[in-house]
Amino acid sequence: MSNVKFMSGENIPLEMHKVRMVQKVNLIPVEDRLEAMQDAGFNTFLLQNRDVFMDMLTDSGVNAMSQNQYAAMMQADDSYAGSETYYRLEAVLQDIFAMKYFLPAHQGRACENIIAQTLVKPGQATIMNYHFTTTKAHITLNGGSVEEILTDEGFKIKSDVPFKGDIDIDKLKECINRIGTENIAFVRIEAGTNLIGGQPVSMGNMREVSKICRDKGLKLVFDASLLGDNLYFIKVRDAAYKDVNIKDITREIASLMDVVYFSARKLGSARGGGILCSDEQLYLKMRELVPLYEGFLTYGGMSVREMEALAVGLQETMDFDVINQTPIIVEALCNELLKHDVPVVTPPGGLGCHVDAMEFCAHIPQTQYPAGALAASIYIASGVRCMERGTLSEQRNEDGSERLAEMELARIAVPRRVFTLSQVKYTADRINWLYKNRGLIGGLEFVEEPKMLRFFFGRLKPIGNWPEVLAKKFREDFGDSL
Ligand SMILES: Cc1ncc(COP(=O)(O)O)c(C=O)c1O
Repeated sequence: MSNVKFMSGENIPLEMHKVRMVQKVNLIPVEDRLEAMQDAGFNTFLLQNRDVFMDMLTDSGVNAMSQNQYAAMMQADDSYAGSETYYRLEAVLQDIFAMKYFLPAHQGRACENIIAQTLVKPGQATIMNYHFTTTKAHITLNGGSVEEILTDEGFKIKSDVPFKGDIDIDKLKECINRIGTENIAFVRIEAGTNLIGGQPVSMGNMREVSKICRDKGLKLVFDASLLGDNLYFIKVRDAAYKDVNIKDITREIASLMDVVYFSARKLGSARGGGILCSDEQLYLKMRELVPLYEGFLTYGGMSVREMEALAVGLQETMDFDVINQTPIIVEALCNELLKHDVPVVTPPGGLGCHVDAMEFCAHIPQTQYPAGALAASIYIASGVRCMERGTLSEQRNEDGSERLAEMELARIAVPRRVFTLSQVKYTADRINWLYKNRGLIGGLEFVEEPKMLRFFFGRLKPIGNWPEVLAKKFREDFGDSL
């Protein structure tokens, strides 16, 4: 916590909550972890939770809920149509974002389906700071394409630029001139830019992009899934917002956008999703798709209990002491790794700590998925499950060739308010050991490769017997320790 100083001068993250319900976790021996990884086809998505010590795969749908969220679930109004729960959630959203219309959906990608089907015509481009996997999939499924116009700094692993998720304004202007407004479906800003290391977007940048879009008559769509982290960074990294409360910052952002959508698995620490807008015609067009894909308008694929939890979770997101919990732990994890020269994305973002596999595994070519190999190795070394965010998470080009990712990251997500500092220090300890032994890590190749979003179900095998060698070295170095 930035405003709690320790006598020692150390910068120690301080949890602003207490734990009142726990789940036992298991740490199995390294030989069993090796076997579990083999059974999972070297894809951390396919591990079974019983074999996982700390699940740091994602922050999606796995955040700790507050006692008030659980309490609210008990007052859910269970009905197909006209549920009071819906109206409570709608009122909270209207209050926070000051936008008139709300459409519920079962999660973030469901919102993307509705937005893409409504706004993207075949042949049209969408312009954005950076894509997210499901966003791009829905746009391309509807015949559109994606143009990424992140600032060059956004791709640098080591940086001291506070808002690496910003759109490059010159690239935006060039893109609009080159493509022509009639061939552009919308411009999209993703808060807390996921695939480049949870990097925030500045208010100044959002303001500039919004002005250009309004001048050109282009719709501006805002992915607010990682808004909580982004709000924290605006408050602590932009001096102009130091004394502005979180709700006012949120409303200012929303006032710049035409459409706001979110995954409630992230924003609001619940499950579900939603779309907000102020344009009645656009709302009515999108609304047609809700009963088709999600369910009736007053639940949209969510359980009413989740909707109640979400309404409270969103209000709690307006509390600085709630949203600062993940970024300060991410920073602590990054700092523990940096002490041992492990290459991580800096400045630390929200969402998780991102290890640069391009440098960590510099000896592994991108076509052998270095970030996937690193994620598998982290599990073998620690029982911590993280995720590949690199070439494996890309889709092949039309001609079957690999689309090499700009960044090869192993993402160690920090679910909100779930893990303690000692668990975070354990994670860092094992990754630091792995870094010393990085030469032992080898590449991967596909055994089963789905065409679409292959990182979810794809199965791989190691090139050579490096996982066995790595597990053996762990046993030699750690003796009978788990
Ligand atoms: C930025 C961003 N947008 C959209 C989504 C999709 O949301 P969901 O997983 O709820 O479908 C995610 C999920 O991780 C995300 O990080």
